[in-house]
Amino acid sequence: NGALRGLVLLAALTLAACHGPQNILDPAGKQAQDIDVVWRTMLVVCGLMYLLVMAFLGSALWRARRKPSDDALPIQSRTAAEGVLDRTLTGWIGLIVTGLIVLVSVSFLVDRSLADVGPDPLRIKVTANQWWWDVEYQGQGPSERVLTANELRLPVGRPAVVELHANDVIHSFWVPNLSGKTDLIPGRVNFITLTPTRTGAFRGQCAEFCGLEHAKMAFDVQVTSPQEFEAWRRSQLARAADPTGPLEIQGKQIFNGKACAMCHRVQGTDAGAGIGPDLTHLKSRATIAAGTLPNTRGDLQAWVADPQGVKPGTTMPRVPLTASELNAVVAYLETLR
Ligand code: CUA
Repeated sequence: NGALRGLVLLAALTLAACHGPQNILDPAGKQAQDIDVVWRTMLVVCGLMYLLVMAFLGSALWRARRKPSDDALPIQSRTAAEGVLDRTLTGWIGLIVTGLIVLVSVSFLVDRSLADVGPDPLRIKVTANQWWWDVEYQGQGPSERVLTANELRLPVGRPAVVELHANDVIHSFWVPNLSGKTDLIPGRVNFITLTPTRTGAFRGQCAEFCGLEHAKMAFDVQVTSPQEFEAWRRSQLARAADPTGPLEIQGKQIFNGKACAMCHRVQGTDAGAGIGPDLTHLKSRATIAAGTLPNTRGDLQAWVADPQGVKPGTTMPRVPLTASELNAVVAYLETLR
């Protein structure tokens, strides 16, 4: 019974890690598949080496166990022993060199493959901030520029070159299902290429400790068909529609009159600051506060009412609002689709 329970636990532990939106063992991109080849090769080469060493150690212990003849004086035969030693050493050196050659070759080939961007890449600029992601799609000219935050939309099969910047400290950009990590360093520009091979929802996470809310610095990754991506891009290019309901109109006035518009941008309105995330199409996103909360009305309300309670240390201050003002502001934010 205990053995069965152990087996079930082991199976659960091993299988649980095989799928999921944030998993290096479930590659959904060309670069992640390349990296997967390296780690599988390392697992096989190092695993075989380990098993061999353990087998030799076991056999040495077995042969060296105490025998009745141990009390007699040993028979000296140096030359025979040296011959065995020579052959064993040659064998081990051969094995190690072969293993290293396999590892170096695979690593070299994968490195070359990772450096190969592929044709017609999509250009995206990502800027890391404590603790959120500013995302900009560079199109043909300023009118084609899409600004968003804490989300990445990618068409399946097309390479995307992501230009990585940082505004304050070092962060690290990591979508485990799509590729490895690349640091975002203040004063420096890094690049990472992502070529998704299947559609799906994935999760990106900051992978370099960057302060109190490092853990709550995530982003959503949506890989869709090229048609869906184009539809999304078009919808993001459109300016925010003017609210029509009286509550929403009041909310917009409060948003622009109180501190909100001092940090946030809603394109096509008086709110034009780029300090915090762009909110033009806030409601088209899956989460708020960099993956901290689902994007529901209740969570949005909780976040605006008390940012420090949800994400202590966040740059977003608590703006004093009465209950009815809060209600109006959230109603306005809900129109930003
Ligand atoms: Cu940004 Cu950790």
